[in-house]
Amino acid sequence: MRFYITTPIYYVNDVPHLGTAYTTIAADVLARHHRQRGDDTHFLTGLDEHGLKVERAAQELGESTAAYVERMAAPFRETWAALDVSYDDFIRTTEVRHKERVGRLWSRVRKSGDIYEGVYEDWYCVACEAYYTQKDLGEGNVCPVHGRPVERLKEPSYFFRLSAYEARLLAHYDAHPEFVAPESRMNEVKAFVKGGLRDLSISRTTFTWGVPVPDDPRHIMYVWFDALANYLTALGDEGGPAWRFWPPTLQLVGKDILRFHAVYWPAFLMSAGLEVPHRIFAHGWLTVNGQKMSKSLRNVVEPRALAREYGADAVRFYLMREIAFGQDGDFSHDALVARWNSDLADNVGNLANRTISLARKLLGGRIPARPPAAADPVLEQAFGEALPKIEAALEAAMPHRALDEILALGRLGNLHVDRRAPWSLAKDGKKAELEACLWNVLELCRVIAVMLAPFVPSHARGLLGQLGHSVDPGHEPRWPRWGELAAGHELAAPAPAFPKFAPERSAEILSRLGVTPPGAPLTAPLPASPEAPAAPGTARIAYEDFARVELRAGEIVSAERVPKSDKLLRLQVNVGEAAPRQVVAGIGKAYAPEALLGKRVAVVCNLAPAKLMGLVSEGMLLAAGEPGTLKLVAFDGDVAVGTRIK
Ligand code: MSP
Repeated sequence: MRFYITTPIYYVNDVPHLGTAYTTIAADVLARHHRQRGDDTHFLTGLDEHGLKVERAAQELGESTAAYVERMAAPFRETWAALDVSYDDFIRTTEVRHKERVGRLWSRVRKSGDIYEGVYEDWYCVACEAYYTQKDLGEGNVCPVHGRPVERLKEPSYFFRLSAYEARLLAHYDAHPEFVAPESRMNEVKAFVKGGLRDLSISRTTFTWGVPVPDDPRHIMYVWFDALANYLTALGDEGGPAWRFWPPTLQLVGKDILRFHAVYWPAFLMSAGLEVPHRIFAHGWLTVNGQKMSKSLRNVVEPRALAREYGADAVRFYLMREIAFGQDGDFSHDALVARWNSDLADNVGNLANRTISLARKLLGGRIPARPPAAADPVLEQAFGEALPKIEAALEAAMPHRALDEILALGRLGNLHVDRRAPWSLAKDGKKAELEACLWNVLELCRVIAVMLAPFVPSHARGLLGQLGHSVDPGHEPRWPRWGELAAGHELAAPAPAFPKFAPERSAEILSRLGVTPPGAPLTAPLPASPEAPAAPGTARIAYEDFARVELRAGEIVSAERVPKSDKLLRLQVNVGEAAPRQVVAGIGKAYAPEALLGKRVAVVCNLAPAKLMGLVSEGMLLAAGEPGTLKLVAFDGDVAVGTRIK
């Protein structure tokens, strides 16, 4: 099987941060997994170096844009190396190989009749590098994503006939429901396309930092046309050796850039007569200790510093374990340490350590030959049941689910040792049973280490080495089958496979990273927009921190759907003030507006106002669950409107 996985290419006007590291680590885990399954795997990442945003960032520093992008590129490669990221190719859009081929893609699209000349006159957000029309904007002409002023453009432009692709895209989504994942994101994409597609301006004439349009160098290509093409241009020429990977099997993107990948990108490819990717997977948004990432916080969680202090494996494991891939999540140092300690050190590490020690003490340290399966079948059976689930989870890009299953095997192993009590078997002279028990537990340790290898490459290799299964550098341990344990291998005294972070060590790390200890007052406002919601954090906060959230009982006095959104409802909520507040709530998939009238709800009253689809929201309702099935938090009895919840 072929497996071609990509990350977005990152804008070079920022350093690598936890958000970009998150996508890249997820892609690396999946790439490593496919390599160990024997798949012909190609993992591409890289940098998006063109566009107005990058040009302006360079200008602000008084640097030439070319020198600036050169300087900003280095930390990306360094960070991925520090995080043990094993990409096969790294593309930069300023490279000749890209520029030449993106020109060819343009020409193909032009030949198909989908490009025409016109004048673009509307709005543009440089931070998004995206076009907006008046109805998309917030009050005061601000971008709906960033809340920053957008710019008015009027310039000659080439347009891509996106409107002609509405029906073809919808047909593609229907025929390939797996094209966008998770499923809820597919609904968003469909709703967007059904809302009507405008032709897309795909060239600019008012600045020059981009790829010139073939045969018309007054224009440079729109940065998203240029950037999306990287997934194609990096494979070289059609018919060349890397071309076999086309089309991508899995493209990981953040939910903020799904529209570009699930709507524009397949339309460009259809126009060029090329196959479209198999699947675009949109992951969620990360916050830090419940707060939106900001430049200053990014410093605190600079991924290279995290890798230096905790080790790449701990950072990788934590991000893949803690956050359900696809959903929003929160980063906290406490949770990182707690995950490692409880899931790896106390579970798998402890299992390996005690079993190797027991085998040395009770069996003389040599791994025995494989016993008959019937002698001690519990672990083999459990492995047999878990394996297809783990494979399915990884195929569905659900690394957190795979980890659930792998770690459950570790817990089962520990329980098995407790139940079988090898020390008693030894005392009672039950040699065959003793050997069977320890062989099976050692084999379990091996298969767990193999399956953990994509997540924690160094530590998994360390454990495999202890069990007599060293892995050659640059290779992945082959996906396990039960029974391959190295019989006869002499076990050395066990070294902790996943050394625990002791409290003193964690404290030292925090102080070296300059992080305020948990419980200290929050330093930044709570997130104001649902684009950066605080996911259930595991970091402890002091009561004072909680008390800063002004929660009140409210009553919904009017409710209506926000046009063009299947999720958002525009509510007026009485929270005991002179006038009701407008709250734009993402509950429209679970509640019909009429069902909400008169409902008592819990309202967060001191969130900074946010703008959603141009509407100001002055609060947030508490609710739990997935968009389609969520339930609003309710009261157990009568509570007066405006009562503080504490
Ligand atoms: N250059 C474009 C992508 C072009 S792909 C053809 C771009 N670059 S970016 O650097 O701004 O963002 C890249 C990715 O980082 C996006 O997928 C985005 O979702 C992800 N993240 C940025 N901040 C993030 C978080 N706070 N949390 C999770 N992912 C985040 O967009």
